[in-house]
Amino acid sequence: MLSARERSAWARIGASAFALAFALTLACGDDGGGTETDAGTGGASDSAGTGETGDPGPWSSLDERPCPPDSPLDAANFGVPFFLTHCTGCHSSTIATEDRQGAPANVNFDNVDEIVAQADRVWARSADQNETMPPINSVSAAERAMLGEWLACGAPLKAE
Ligand code: HEC
Repeated sequence: MLSARERSAWARIGASAFALAFALTLACGDDGGGTETDAGTGGASDSAGTGETGDPGPWSSLDERPCPPDSPLDAANFGVPFFLTHCTGCHSSTIATEDRQGAPANVNFDNVDEIVAQADRVWARSADQNETMPPINSVSAAERAMLGEWLACGAPLKAE
């Protein structure tokens, strides 16, 4: 079952190919450094994890993981730079088979659609308390909490 926020995220994804291309360009341009700072100062560290939902976790699935109200996280300030930094070195259709380090051929994160389509598995491997992706842990607990939050909020392209 999709929440209203998830449905609207889907709608935006469908209508916003240009916005995503722009987000990707942004992320490549500054290597994600500046945008992570923006997300941090935007209140992510306050709202990630416990948030104002009164449900501190740990959660056993993405369905249980709450989306804190007023989450500042979106594709441009968090999602795209996160995946470019931590995941697409192996999980991208642009990576040659011999360079994927064993990442399954059908698990790619080339765009937000693909992330949303695999959100349950992404959460179970990489978000909140889950630490089995990437295989060598390069992701801080704060970033994993932000990933959980962004996914739970429907992986919005643009924060509301
Ligand atoms: C160094 C290469 C590498 C990186 C970087 C990497 N992965 Fe993987 N990934 C793999 C390999 C190898 C497998 C297959 C083995 C396994 O499932 O543990 C895999 C499998 C997966 C799967 C499919 C298995 C399942 O549980 O459904 C998902 C989802 C996944 N990775 C998500 C991610 C996410 C999200 C990131 C970034 C936070 C990431 N991976 C970063 C190599 C990588």
